[in-house]
Amino acid sequence: MGQVHISSHPLVRHKLSKLRDMRTEPLKFRQLVHELATLLAYEASEDLQLVDVTVETPMGSAPGGKLAESVGLIPILRAGLGMVEGVWDLIPGAEVWHIGIYRDEKTLRPVEYYNKLPIEPRVQVCFVLDPMLATGGSAVATVSILKRWGVRRIKFVGLIGAPEGLKALTDAHPDVDVYLAALDERLNDIGFIVPGLGDAGDRQFGTG
Ligand code: PRP
Repeated sequence: MGQVHISSHPLVRHKLSKLRDMRTEPLKFRQLVHELATLLAYEASEDLQLVDVTVETPMGSAPGGKLAESVGLIPILRAGLGMVEGVWDLIPGAEVWHIGIYRDEKTLRPVEYYNKLPIEPRVQVCFVLDPMLATGGSAVATVSILKRWGVRRIKFVGLIGAPEGLKALTDAHPDVDVYLAALDERLNDIGFIVPGLGDAGDRQFGTG
């Protein structure tokens, strides 16, 4: 069974409050998404496997570890793009594979429009990146794509989730670990997270 991890780190709470603030301009918003992605990735990478290594320090041999798993980052376009650099700060060797999905405004159902995954996965663990888990449709669809691709270990790393979206994701994919900065109250009648932060894509890219 996957785990659901809602961060309680003070830096996450501090930065998330600034991110939510409607007065936060796109430049600062992008910086905060970047920083929050780094903090969430630190938490999401807590169980990556290591192999033992020994290194020589100026004073002798030291036991250590080296990452044994290759990590793939799967940003869901558009809003997930802003999280990539922040995760790369911690895992610079991660491959990035983009999935384009938008949510139909009327039906709220996910519509896939971009997918150039190679025929076979070259990574063992995938982090799906998307700031918002609203109905969960985009996340569920992306995880399904990755499973069909052949990835066994998948983690969803997001910033704000709604209870409805978290339930949809864990019901559809109970093996997926979910890492969020906050779990909010609910969705409103047009599928926005309340209190949320508005539209994460528009606020990053200055659109809308
Ligand atoms: C937003 C958000 C998620 C999705 C969440 O993207 O970034 O991808 O909606 O909603 P869901 O959980 O109900 O699927 P949007 O469709 O607005 O596209 P954008 O990132 O291109 O703005």
